[in-house]
Amino acid sequence: MKKIAIITGASGGLGKEFVSRLISEVDELWAIGRNVSKLEALKNENGSQGEKIIPLQMDLSDIKSFDILSSKLHSENETDGIEISWLINNAGAGRFGPSKDFSTEELNVSITCHCTAIASICNICIPYMKAGNHLVNIASQSAFSPLPYINLYAATKAFVYSYTRALGEELKDSGIIVTAVCPGWIKTGLIVESLNGKKVHFPLLTTADKVAAKALKDARRGKPVSIYKLSVRYIAWLQKHLNNSISVRVWAKLVEKYVKK
Ligand SMILES: NC(=O)c1ccc[n+]([C@@H]2O[C@H](COP(=O)([O-])OP(=O)(O)OC[C@H]3O[C@@H](n4cnc5c(N)ncnc54)[C@H](OP(=O)(O)O)[C@@H]3O)[C@@H](O)[C@H]2O)c1
Repeated sequence: MKKIAIITGASGGLGKEFVSRLISEVDELWAIGRNVSKLEALKNENGSQGEKIIPLQMDLSDIKSFDILSSKLHSENETDGIEISWLINNAGAGRFGPSKDFSTEELNVSITCHCTAIASICNICIPYMKAGNHLVNIASQSAFSPLPYINLYAATKAFVYSYTRALGEELKDSGIIVTAVCPGWIKTGLIVESLNGKKVHFPLLTTADKVAAKALKDARRGKPVSIYKLSVRYIAWLQKHLNNSISVRVWAKLVEKYVKK
């Protein structure tokens, strides 16, 4: 039986941290992303453990790509037997902007990558998981309140959070441990330096290593939700419990200066 980890968005800021922290625990790590050279580069970045990395080129905004994963799992299970010790649905992207400016194509890419792909990959992988295995979905602090100008991103992350919490309950009897990770701002390729010529200030900005370490620690403890750090947890609590109309207006005030030309 081969123990594997599957990580989507493995070549990004947070994804790389999950790769380096989990690779020693598994026989193979299947690294998913669109850019195969970035996935190949992970092998060198992980030294002697790097040979365990199997790059899988998949564009998760295209539902046909999901077949690549299901076929590979099916065929390798026939030969070696597969146990997925860790599934981390981490791939994601987004941008600031007024909702009316998003094309149908962009809406579809975001919803497919953040919603359809996560739910489908969970369903594809769960049959290869058992008690003690971990399923981790990366949501965001933005899941806790409607957020103007990152409306699409926040709405899809609300899906990830809600879906993951409910799935955890459904899988309780199986012993599979399900965790929703809801970070605040992280210094990765996802955030922009400036918008419309204005330098963007990201409050409570942190680093990917800290978020990944906390996420894995919380997952190992069986926690359904992981939020790094106390200040972000506090704001998330306010977002959840304040009347939405207050948090929506506060957020809109904070970002309007960057988005309005
Ligand atoms: N950075 C933050 O402030 C922040 C805060 C909260 C939550 N998050 C979440 O953390 C996760 C990781 O993001 P990050 O901050 O590490 O950003 P990142 O550095 O931009 O990495 C994103 C990763 O996702 C992959 N990806 C993007 N679109 C994809 C697609 N359609 N199909 C397959 N792979 C795709 C990218 O690889 P390719 O380009 O090669 O496909 C890359 O490996 C995301 O879910 C994000 O929403 C980030």
